Amino acid sequence: MIFRQIFDPISSTYTYLLAERIGGEALLIDPVLEHTDNYLKLITELDLKLVLAMDTHIHADHVTATGKLAKLTDCLSAIGEQAQTECVSLKFTEDEIIKADNLAVRAIYTPGHTDDSYSFLMKDRVFTGDTLLIRGTGRTDFQNGDPAAQYDSLFNRLLTLPEDTLVYPAHDYEGRTVSTIYEEKRFNPWLQVYSRQQYIDQMNALELDPPRLIDVAVPANRQCGLQMAA
Ligand SMILES: [Fe+2]
Repeated sequence: MIFRQIFDPISSTYTYLLAERIGGEALLIDPVLEHTDNYLKLITELDLKLVLAMDTHIHADHVTATGKLAKLTDCLSAIGEQAQTECVSLKFTEDEIIKADNLAVRAIYTPGHTDDSYSFLMKDRVFTGDTLLIRGTGRTDFQNGDPAAQYDSLFNRLLTLPEDTLVYPAHDYEGRTVSTIYEEKRFNPWLQVYSRQQYIDQMNALELDPPRLIDVAVPANRQCGLQMAA
């Protein structure tokens, strides 16, 4: 399997390139507009055919490359059905299987950080977007964020996966690249709560500044980044 974790230092975003083999079909998760040329170069070098570029949710901290990639490569662009955007070629739903050759990725609806947040499960690993971060969980104070929904997504969905499942988040601000469900259950300070209400109270008590780019990124991402790419 080809698996690449590509870092954007400006927004601390991780983009994931997945393919079964050199010369095969590829998927991109959470591509960042400014890195479009880098992705295309790597895809060409590995003789891949990009079939789908998708986002875990409408991001507030960077502009997506899904629209530009769809334009340049004829790949499909995708996001969850709850996302308020009309520019993607398809919208996936809970439990939908997304394929590239024989690689299968299952979409799991994990709202809370936003109401359009999905995680993607592929064999031994899960791409958790901003729902579950390494030793953190995504903020829930904008874009229809909801701490109660996030608690349910975390405790009833993601943390019920096998403990050796690898956790690949959409961001890390301290250079950590991967974790496991085992580690996050035990050592993620935000998950050490004794009740749903305690998790909700802890998230509601946060007073965070809005992301620097939110006023630019959210409207741009509802256009698949295409206005920015023009
Ligand atoms: Fe986010």
